[in-house]
Amino acid sequence: MTPTPTSSLFALSNRTILVTGGVRGLGLSIAVSLLESGADVVVFDLISPDHPDSVSDWTAAQATAAAHHAKLSWISLDVTDADAVASAVDAAFSSARPTHPVKGLFNSAGIQFLKPATEIAPSMWRKVVDINLTGSFLMSAAFARSFTGQGGSVVLVASMSGRVANKGLDCAAYNASKAGVVQLARNLAMEWGDKIRVNTLSPGYIRTALTDALLQQEPEYEKTWLDGSLLGRLSTVDEFRGPAIFLLSDASSFMTGADLVVDGGHTAV
Ligand SMILES: NC(=O)c1ccc[n+]([C@@H]2O[C@H](COP(=O)([O-])OP(=O)(O)OC[C@H]3O[C@@H](n4cnc5c(N)ncnc54)[C@H](O)[C@@H]3O)[C@@H](O)[C@H]2O)c1
Repeated sequence: MTPTPTSSLFALSNRTILVTGGVRGLGLSIAVSLLESGADVVVFDLISPDHPDSVSDWTAAQATAAAHHAKLSWISLDVTDADAVASAVDAAFSSARPTHPVKGLFNSAGIQFLKPATEIAPSMWRKVVDINLTGSFLMSAAFARSFTGQGGSVVLVASMSGRVANKGLDCAAYNASKAGVVQLARNLAMEWGDKIRVNTLSPGYIRTALTDALLQQEPEYEKTWLDGSLLGRLSTVDEFRGPAIFLLSDASSFMTGADLVVDGGHTAV
């Protein structure tokens, strides 16, 4: 096997990557980074890029796409709807430019939910597991059904919360769902071998709309979170560009079934 030149290891040109939850937060940051790396990007999200909170970021992302001769599109999708997932993924594969076949999936759609375990309504438990875990499964399986080549890469966003309980945060459903995502990736990696590598990316606390909502609910959480970080701060979405590009590119060609923890050292102690 001729090794890829080091200068091209992280290149993502001439391919399309699917990004769920890509209208805002982590998903949008990674989508922009993928465009800058030369990929076309298809974003799947429940919310529209025309939403007043998202429209300016989306317009900037479209400008990035144009500057890199790349294509950015959005498909409305609820990742828990199996039939809709199958048709949306199918549509993304068939509308990819012939020069840019679909080769990767970055699954970022997810929700958090805080409630003491004894008070969680079964419907809410199911909703969290449905979006975070079942959505990851449905998207991955649809991707694998449509992907006919070799060397695909699926990255499922899990969380450090798939490995530890977050001190002071009552989020049993979220943490159980993320532990499930890590184990799901191992099983898919085993089934799909060198056809599609499957890994998880497990972030620590990131400052996004998801955590802003929690901090609005309980501002004192921030101190507890910072106490757990060896770097003494929350992360920003752009700090996950390197890890995501690494996992989606040839730079990680011998990595599958692994969980890449990027948490400021939170789970190290
Ligand atoms: N923010 C953090 O501190 C943190 C830490 C670890 C892991 N994560 C994970 O990172 C991922 C992104 O989180 P974020 O902070 O960017 O959150 P966010 O709320 O800013 O973005 C999540 C996106 O997912 C979309 N989404 C939600 N439900 C959906 C559904 N059913 N179908 C399609 N799209 C749906 C939302 O519309 C939104 O655009 C999530 O999986 C989250 O669990 C976040």
